[in-house]
Amino acid sequence: MKICNLALVCLGLLMLLSSIQLEILHHAGDAWTWIHIILGIFLSVIIAWHLLLHYKSRWQKLFSKQTKPKIKIMAVLILLTLVTGLIATAHWLAGYAHNAIGGIHGKLGFLFLIIAVTHCFRYRKFYMNKSKKHA
Ligand code: HEM
Ligand code: HEM
Repeated sequence: MKICNLALVCLGLLMLLSSIQLEILHHAGDAWTWIHIILGIFLSVIIAWHLLLHYKSRWQKLFSKQTKPKIKIMAVLILLTLVTGLIATAHWLAGYAHNAIGGIHGKLGFLFLIIAVTHCFRYRKFYMNKSKKHA
């Protein structure tokens, strides 16, 4: 649980930096785009792990009435970001530079990150208590 949450916050921050960089410099270069793709896939895998730890493979609980709307919105947004990211990767590998799907992917991704920051802030005690124990 602790390793998963630490990995989430680290990868989330790196993803934020990588997304801002790609948004500002549309042609940041192949290496930066690859770093972004690898980080994105890692973050998605760790989010799946995070959800597995919470729901113990009973995925339907994610969309039950008890689940907060914000969590549901995050789940939909990360899924759409991943799918559009994979399509944008296929376009990019086929030789097309920036395209509409990449733009949609970017907007969805930023929306997800904004909500993820508020989600992470809500659980800031989890990280603060941990650092106190180590101090
Ligand atoms: C960078 C992204 C994220 C970070 C840093 C993060 C961090 C955390 C932390 C620290 C907790 C409290 C400790 C715990 O119970 O594990 C938590 C709880 C939780 N997170 Fe996340 N999380 C992220 C993304 C997500 C996403 C994308 C979802 C769902 C789609 C999600 C769903 C949940 C749920 C269901 C809980 C249990 C508490 C609740 O129901 O509000 N998290 N998260
Ligand atoms: C939380 C996860 C992610 C966020 C926040 C995010 C965000 C972004 C942003 C802001 C851009 C710049 C878009 C633009 O230039 O208008 C971008 C580009 C890109 N992303 Fe992501 N992304 C995420 C995950 C992924 C994943 C998982 C993949 C691949 C599987 C991916 C593949 C790409 C590609 C190929 C581009 C370049 C597209 C283009 O310039 O047309 N991303 N992403």
